[in-house]
Amino acid sequence: MPYTPALALVTGASSGLGALVARRMAERGTDLVLVARRRDRLDELAGELRRRHGVTVHPVVMDLGRAGAGPALLEALAAEAPGRSPDLVVNNAGFGIYGPLVENDPEKLEAMLTLNVTALTSITRAVLEPMVRRGSGTLVNVASTGGFQPAPGLAAYVATKAYVLHLSEALWQEVKGTGVRVTALCPGPTSTEFFDVAGSEHGVLGGNVTTPEQVVDALVAALDRRRLPPYLVPDVPNRIQSVAARVLPRRLALPVAARVMRQS
Ligand SMILES: NC(=O)c1ccc[n+]([C@@H]2O[C@H](COP(=O)([O-])OP(=O)(O)OC[C@H]3O[C@@H](n4cnc5c(N)ncnc54)[C@H](OP(=O)(O)O)[C@@H]3O)[C@@H](O)[C@H]2O)c1
Repeated sequence: MPYTPALALVTGASSGLGALVARRMAERGTDLVLVARRRDRLDELAGELRRRHGVTVHPVVMDLGRAGAGPALLEALAAEAPGRSPDLVVNNAGFGIYGPLVENDPEKLEAMLTLNVTALTSITRAVLEPMVRRGSGTLVNVASTGGFQPAPGLAAYVATKAYVLHLSEALWQEVKGTGVRVTALCPGPTSTEFFDVAGSEHGVLGGNVTTPEQVVDALVAALDRRRLPPYLVPDVPNRIQSVAARVLPRRLALPVAARVMRQS
């Protein structure tokens, strides 16, 4: 049965995975709240989705990299779409920083921690409460296969994604039986603007590279099923790698991760 939420809120909707999630949901007739900083990108996407699919789209231009992102977003939502709460929330906004930690720009590092960890948690807290109260809703937190193991050269980024993964898995258990669904989407390296933003010299991290379509279509297929798994790794090679990372002792996984990062 195709999952067709009445209203979906997607953060980081101005490019990459977030923009494609918005497209896929609009194709199904879902109204949207699209959140990011680049107004031109959001307006362009909103116009396209209204024209092609006749859905209502609310672009919300907001820098989520700040304290109180969750309440601020709910306030913006109340102003944009009074009386409506999202049935689906995709906590997708995030970025990474390549290079040894001691060479990372300190301000950019803090901005990443604030967005990937603090804002994501604040938004999760803010949207999950009304979902649990009404006994329905779906929350997707975008983690990464990087969250399954440490990655020298991308250390703080994958640590933020380990946080997202652990948080979401625990929440999956906390909301069990309430009618609310939670999952962590864990893409492997995917061809988006991520690598330009992260400052990768080679465009992609080692490992199996997926397209945004592979990732988002796997998510949508999972959303169509009644139950969601605690985490979802979209493609088979990355799934095998993630399971291996969970079962391998760290002293073995760490040198493997270091070798993969050196090749990237
Ligand atoms: N691509 C990969 O290989 C990969 C793999 C695993 C996980 N992921 C995760 O997937 C998610 C989406 O990334 P992507 O690959 O689609 O990369 P992307 O194309 O760079 O998209 C990132 C999105 O986040 C938004 N964003 C960044 N900083 C923000 C801020 N301070 N406030 C609000 N929005 C902000 C960006 O919009 P604005 O710049 O307009 O604000 C953009 O829409 C991220 O959480 C990333 O960590 C990506």
